Amino acid sequence: MSHNTVAENQRRHRLDDDEQRWLFGYGSLIYLVDFPYLESRPASIRGWSRRFWQGSHDHRGTELNPGRVVTLIEDPDAVCGGLAYLIEAPVFRQLDEREKNGYLRVATEMTFADGSQANGLTYIATPANEAYLGAASESDIARHICGAAGPSGPNDEYLLQLAEALRRLGQHDRHVFNIESHILKIKRQ
Ligand code: SIN
Repeated sequence: MSHNTVAENQRRHRLDDDEQRWLFGYGSLIYLVDFPYLESRPASIRGWSRRFWQGSHDHRGTELNPGRVVTLIEDPDAVCGGLAYLIEAPVFRQLDEREKNGYLRVATEMTFADGSQANGLTYIATPANEAYLGAASESDIARHICGAAGPSGPNDEYLLQLAEALRRLGQHDRHVFNIESHILKIKRQ
């Protein structure tokens, strides 16, 4: 699969321009909100874990030196916390461009803080995409992140801002916080 997913996403989910859909964000979509939305609410999805296993050639790295950004990995007992946005369908075209390096829109059910649920979409980069990097130890991921930067800025900024945003949401994500600790140690050296 080509790592530019724009055409594939627009083929997978044909949305009418007057529709509204919930979007579940779990990575930079939590803290870098450069798109219009009607409403935003803390939410979670079941059966997925957040992992820094996706390569970034276009935002936090380059073709020659990709950064590492988050994707979701199937994990039946896990619950992943993030932020949901109610958005108008045309905004997905803008999001498809932003998420084009391997992410596919996937339908998901999300649960809000009050226990109510809604169906919506989330962007997931599966192991089938060319930019996928896969598992590594959290200390190796931290070293990798400290050595990468791309058009959207340094890769460590992505991780540190995500960790801060998760803390503000009251979400304890051990994977993200462990990598954060390694990065802060590397930066102190
Ligand atoms: C997301 O934030 O939901 C997707 C991954 C990213 O753009 O960082």
